[in-house]
Amino acid sequence: MSMNLTKKILKVHLAKPSEMIPGEEIFLKVDQTLTHDINAVMTYLAFEAVGLDRTQVETSVSYLDHNLLYLDNKTPDDHIYLQSVARRYGVYVSRPGNGICHAVHVARFGAPGKLSMGGDSHTPHGGAIGMLCIGVGGMDVATAMTGVPMRLKMPKVVKVTLTGRLQPGCNAKEVILEMLRRVGIKGGLGKVFEYTGPGAAALSVGERVTIANMGAEMGATTSIFPADEQVRRFMKAQHREEDYKELLPDEGCEYDEEMEIDLSRLEPLCACPHQPDNVIPLKDVEKKKVQQVFIGSCTNASYSDIAKAALVFRGRHVNENVSCTCGISSKQIYIQLMRDGYLEMLLNAGVRLLELACGPCCAIGQSPATDGIAVRTSNRNFKGRAGNPTAQIYLVNPESAAATAIMGTFASARDVMGDEVEKLASVHEPEEYPIDDSMIMEPLPEEEAKQVEIVRGPNIQPLPVPEAPSDYLKAQVSLKAGDNVSTDDITPASAEFSSMRSNIPLMSQYCYHRYDPEFAARARSMGKSFIIGGENYGQGSSREHAAINPMYLGVKAVIAKSIARIHKGNLINHGIIPMVFENPADYDRMNMGDELDIRDLLEQMKTRELEVTDLTGGFSFRVRLELSDSELEVVSSGGQLRYLKKQLEEQKKNS
Ligand code: F3S
Repeated sequence: MSMNLTKKILKVHLAKPSEMIPGEEIFLKVDQTLTHDINAVMTYLAFEAVGLDRTQVETSVSYLDHNLLYLDNKTPDDHIYLQSVARRYGVYVSRPGNGICHAVHVARFGAPGKLSMGGDSHTPHGGAIGMLCIGVGGMDVATAMTGVPMRLKMPKVVKVTLTGRLQPGCNAKEVILEMLRRVGIKGGLGKVFEYTGPGAAALSVGERVTIANMGAEMGATTSIFPADEQVRRFMKAQHREEDYKELLPDEGCEYDEEMEIDLSRLEPLCACPHQPDNVIPLKDVEKKKVQQVFIGSCTNASYSDIAKAALVFRGRHVNENVSCTCGISSKQIYIQLMRDGYLEMLLNAGVRLLELACGPCCAIGQSPATDGIAVRTSNRNFKGRAGNPTAQIYLVNPESAAATAIMGTFASARDVMGDEVEKLASVHEPEEYPIDDSMIMEPLPEEEAKQVEIVRGPNIQPLPVPEAPSDYLKAQVSLKAGDNVSTDDITPASAEFSSMRSNIPLMSQYCYHRYDPEFAARARSMGKSFIIGGENYGQGSSREHAAINPMYLGVKAVIAKSIARIHKGNLINHGIIPMVFENPADYDRMNMGDELDIRDLLEQMKTRELEVTDLTGGFSFRVRLELSDSELEVVSSGGQLRYLKKQLEEQKKNS
């Protein structure tokens, strides 16, 4: 039977069942895992707790890339722990300064046809080279490392046919912003976007990564491009042609949905505050004064992205009212840009070059001023994402960002360069990248690894493990949140907060800090509680601390209109029951502080339909558990760690 590319890769990795039916659960054998420093401590603490000697997947990589500001002891404590635990368990380490996880992974570890799971929502970045890459929570990565097949709801596959060619001044960013404009931030739920057509064939890997990476903003399971001539060229340029194999959808294969974008008709676009699907043509954005421009992040800092931005800057200067920074995504791209003279163009223009790290993208430095307008090439513009909730973040492509930095207000490359914008079309990805893996530490041989001492500084606190739910739950509502609450709202980003993520007793004090500063104290004083949420609760970053911190503060269940995919997985993994209103209008009847009561909780959970009584409001309402059998087992067991240990013990007994 002819198959699309997604199904082909899933089929090869399928452990059970034999059929792949959209919406039904499948279990997959994973080839690669990826973690990064500000989420990973919990992952490796969980892996330590299961008691295996070594990662059980082909390749596990630990990236030290997000928080390189050592403000105090906390981040160095984390990095030393992560390096030593990786040495102990057979995990590669990409050291600080080597680059951002997704950029390095696609260049040095990724390969067509592989299946990877990463503890970061932008793991789909690797879809640019015909790999199936799925963003999950940290506990899921720990599980994948044990070699246990991973559960996934079989996604629908959407064929996205790209035709035409991007115009100079437009970038792959326009393709993904156009996708977001059309399908919205929830439109990708339960779907894989598979790109094809002559327009896709013309996009380099440096361009494809932007589209695959930012597919996460649609809530998609992942996005993927065929492994074709562009991928072969990229792998060759990485001196890894032997890892290339052609991988295309079969002729005449079927898809669940189809859409088409003519690249020639795209114009520079802009995602306005505070959601990435709030997309309008850049020319229609009100010409306000811009305070800050950031060019970079994993999404839009390929060689060609930065080179094109540099050409916009050539012979021009950053406006005196603008602070413009540039964060390049990997060491090899930095070196190539330096050799080709592009870094000099940026420096001459007054652009400030940052460390090779995520940095401003997750509010680790470069927060905008009070009420500041920030223009960024990264992927998220949620309120507070840049570290200042009063700021407004606009997302554009690197060429437009450079033009905006020069003009001091929103502008496209054509606005600045006129017809000279055509010159941008001459920039291509290099035929050969500088190869130097000296910043990657290879796994130690097994016997040597067993001798490694894991170093735990004071910031490395034990992983809290929830209790299994009891049969009667009576608790108050500690928070009534609105629609589209992001994991940034729940667990704020910034250098200071990120460095607390290995220390839950400390970090939990800042749970919902920017959204509702009283939340942590209130939840703690309630002992146990419910959170009420609106639509798309927990969207955005995969950070599982958005589940761990509420769990630590006693939250037993979230009742929302809808819950984002990765966050729902994290709630399950950390023993918080994710419930969905059967009638969303019941949300309006409830208030913070209401006392809720659920009888026969465990029995009701089995039916996946529960009755909840609001004792304060004097009414009852129904909620659903949108959980598979295995998810139900996990949450009923008190989370993934307890469940996984049970599974591994049974496996041992039966072997
Ligand atoms: Fe880093 Fe931002 Fe990408 S935090 S991994 S650059 S989304």
